[in-house]
Amino acid sequence: MKYLKDIKAKDECVLVRNDFNVPLNQKREILDDTRIRASLPTIEYLIETGARIVLCSHLGRPQGEFKPEFSLKPVAHRLSELLDRPVQFEAEITGEKVDAAKASLKPGEILLLENLRFHPGETGNDPDFARDLARGIDVYVNNAFGTSHRDHASITGITRLVPVAVAGLLLKKEVDYLSLAVEKPSENYVLILGGAKVSDKIPVINNLLDRATTILIGGGMAYTFLKAQGVKVGMSKVEDAYLPMCREIMEKAKKSGCKLMLPVDHVAAVKIEANVTIRMVEKGKEIPEDMMGLDIGYETVERYMAEIRRAALIVWNGPMGVFEVDDFSGGTMAIAKAIADVSATSIVGGGDSVAALIKAGVSANISHISTGGGASLEFLSGKILPGIEALS
Ligand code: 3PG
Repeated sequence: MKYLKDIKAKDECVLVRNDFNVPLNQKREILDDTRIRASLPTIEYLIETGARIVLCSHLGRPQGEFKPEFSLKPVAHRLSELLDRPVQFEAEITGEKVDAAKASLKPGEILLLENLRFHPGETGNDPDFARDLARGIDVYVNNAFGTSHRDHASITGITRLVPVAVAGLLLKKEVDYLSLAVEKPSENYVLILGGAKVSDKIPVINNLLDRATTILIGGGMAYTFLKAQGVKVGMSKVEDAYLPMCREIMEKAKKSGCKLMLPVDHVAAVKIEANVTIRMVEKGKEIPEDMMGLDIGYETVERYMAEIRRAALIVWNGPMGVFEVDDFSGGTMAIAKAIADVSATSIVGGGDSVAALIKAGVSANISHISTGGGASLEFLSGKILPGIEALS
């Protein structure tokens, strides 16, 4: 993979593909600017180098047509505040006006194009759209790790149509960290997986079973594993179609010497609601038939924390319970704090786990927080992301 710092960018017109897919409220205010902040080092590097900077991104899924609620205009404002310099916003993506705006950029000046997905050619990877996007561009930089699992015009198609295509600082950082999780077996590598659906995480478990020393399972996905072991889980969310797969994984873990751990106690309730009556289901006891497991219990937290303390590398994706509701957040908060407290290299991915780190107030103590949701899961599953392959 070619890298931004290996090439000459001074005076060049550089197109940077970012992932500015940030949550907005009804008033089109940005609710979380983490992805914008994560892109800044690359933009600042290009400013210092004297490049002429064109930024592009998608936001949401507007299905190939202009929808004002998906405009990138609020991102231009936020970028301008964060960089403390003007960011010119262009309401088009391609065309004569855009070409003229690109051509008139001076070194250090920044232009942000409108949402790439307002054009159907973006997700359709249309070569004509990619060609229009590439017009006047000397260097293409992919800094959109979170979108690199998409075979889209601005991610893959364009790389064949520009003189130089390289990885930005954020993409490189993501690949460097996440590679630690997938490349070779590591000593004391603790993989923590949670979240609602086991089906989302099966490819990750299958890929990392031979590499991780220990896998700690929590969240809704734990109940499919527990049911596969014959444990009564009441009304807990179970994906029955995955029961055989869970049995197979537990068998494989035994054979490969990977310690796969499941919750032994639970916080249960009849529904997911604040202030509802909760029941602590102790080790060896069954979750009542009319209740569901909504968080890991104290003993599970203790056991998982003991593994985390021994770890040299920790990878976490997916909360341990329904942490958005305070009554069911104890397990996730305890795990987030435990990861932040140890000196191990820690890598956290997935929107929910990142939100949990923020809720626990411990984000600053994590070695790397991935900006990729689907992209980081695919990377951990061992897939070669099209956007990364296109730069090789
Ligand atoms: C994400 O939020 O995971 C990325 O921005 C990719 O978005 P997409 O799933 O709409 O392609």
